[in-house]
Amino acid sequence: MGRKPIIALDGPAGSGKSTQARALAERLGYRYLDTGAMYRSVALAARRAGVGPEDGAALGALLERISIVLEASPEGPRVLLDGADVSAEIRTPEISRVVSGYASRPEVRMAMVRLQREQGRDGGLVAEGRDIGSVVFPDAEVKFYVEASLEERARRRLRDFGADESDTERLEEVLADIANRDSVDTGREHSPLLVAEDAVRIDTTGLTVDEVLEIMLARVAEVTGCSTES
Ligand code: C5P
Repeated sequence: MGRKPIIALDGPAGSGKSTQARALAERLGYRYLDTGAMYRSVALAARRAGVGPEDGAALGALLERISIVLEASPEGPRVLLDGADVSAEIRTPEISRVVSGYASRPEVRMAMVRLQREQGRDGGLVAEGRDIGSVVFPDAEVKFYVEASLEERARRRLRDFGADESDTERLEEVLADIANRDSVDTGREHSPLLVAEDAVRIDTTGLTVDEVLEIMLARVAEVTGCSTES
């Protein structure tokens, strides 16, 4: 096989796809692309500029002037918005709450998909998001759709925030946020979250990161005809 494959990982919020995508990229020595971080950066830039998701013209102008760069660093992937590290700022509850509204706009999607495809030109990429296997890289050699129960996804998000899982009020809040994002992401007109026809579905509920990784590596080996043993 000449060019290295592209691996697409789609799924809803909190399904574990970021953790899995990073682990898979590391194991294969591929680059990792977090497309959610790109939409989050657009939402952050728009909030700072006072541009709402419904203002298509202002959003278009904003997209022309901002730069979003994702880069690897020893501490993990970093997101630079106009040269400044916004990796933490794009993960606040406020951005999580508003990002889907911006991500449903066609201007935003077009600009982001263009950037994402540039990243995939040379292959050797693990890309995660909502529309990777369906829209961004429909010809990706390997596609996964990662899911988990709503409860499990909310618990994982709480853990990510370093919050106590027994805090039921907080759990309810996170659950409501995830359910709302699921509904906006699946119900939107442009590139909704869906399972690509040729994607392998993995329910990660109750599975460890390593268990899921083994399932993925086996599939990659099957498709590429190469062993992925380390
Ligand atoms: O993956 P993450 O939860 O960080 O994504 C944040 C939001 O960005 C999602 O809820 C979704 O609205 C949007 N998104 C998208 N398409 C992608 C990746 C993320 O619409 N490929």
